[in-house]
Amino acid sequence: MVVMISGANRGIGEEIATKLLSEGHILSLGARRIETLQNKFGAFDRNRVLCNWYDAEVPESATKWIDATIGQYGRIDALINNAGIFRSTTIEEFDEEIMDELWTVNVKGPLRLISLAFPYLKEAGGGRVINLVSLSGKRIKGQSVGYAMSKFALTALTHSVRYSGWEHGIRATAICPGWVNTQMAEDINPDTIELKQMTQPEDVAALISTLLKLPNTASISELHVNCVLESSY
Ligand SMILES: NC(=O)c1ccc[n+]([C@@H]2O[C@H](COP(=O)([O-])OP(=O)(O)OC[C@H]3O[C@@H](n4cnc5c(N)ncnc54)[C@H](OP(=O)(O)O)[C@@H]3O)[C@@H](O)[C@H]2O)c1
Repeated sequence: MVVMISGANRGIGEEIATKLLSEGHILSLGARRIETLQNKFGAFDRNRVLCNWYDAEVPESATKWIDATIGQYGRIDALINNAGIFRSTTIEEFDEEIMDELWTVNVKGPLRLISLAFPYLKEAGGGRVINLVSLSGKRIKGQSVGYAMSKFALTALTHSVRYSGWEHGIRATAICPGWVNTQMAEDINPDTIELKQMTQPEDVAALISTLLKLPNTASISELHVNCVLESSY
């Protein structure tokens, strides 16, 4: 499969890329800091891995990445929207700029890429869209209203893709983890849980690998993944 992965230079995205590469997939990787992506994946032949500049805040970077992928491989079988940010903005300390940034990166970025990739996913016959949502896109826990709203919107986007793409064989999944051991979790610093007790990025990569193997008749709309016990998730 030809698979596009955003934010593949580090964290969960890097693990997804490493896993899928080891399984023989052809990857078109996108990263805002292309040099960090080149350092990790630049040594691979262009027939296996294409490194692209992609910044969710720059719409033309999405168009260029899609065009480069089609130019190199002629098809897109799967799109994994992994790039995302956490920023804190609460009801009492609401920050318009932070809210706009969350919306731009976590919602409009994935929507734009899906829209641009859609004709090619249709052509592929069994196209796949996988969005890295969060349990924050399923339930409210804490005060970070902006992040939660952006992730709830990404859940909605995933379900919309299912409706728009189903008859064309496109299947979409929202992956909804709790804490995952990456820089993002370290920065938020929950203090209540050690990094090694969190879900590991390799575990998320293993789930994505499995999702890509499933036929159209075994479509999973949401995967809830947790490292701690919560009432419903
Ligand atoms: N870690 C968790 O606990 C957790 C839990 C649930 C869901 N998630 C979700 O999983 C996804 C990956 O998170 P992670 O834990 O791997 O976070 P991370 O370690 O902070 O990595 C985030 C990735 O997103 C990229 N990114 C940020 N802003 C971007 C932009 N404007 N354009 C393009 N790329 C951008 C980063 O690129 P740079 O290197 O250029 O910054 C980086 O590659 C995110 O969507 C996150 O919300 C994470």
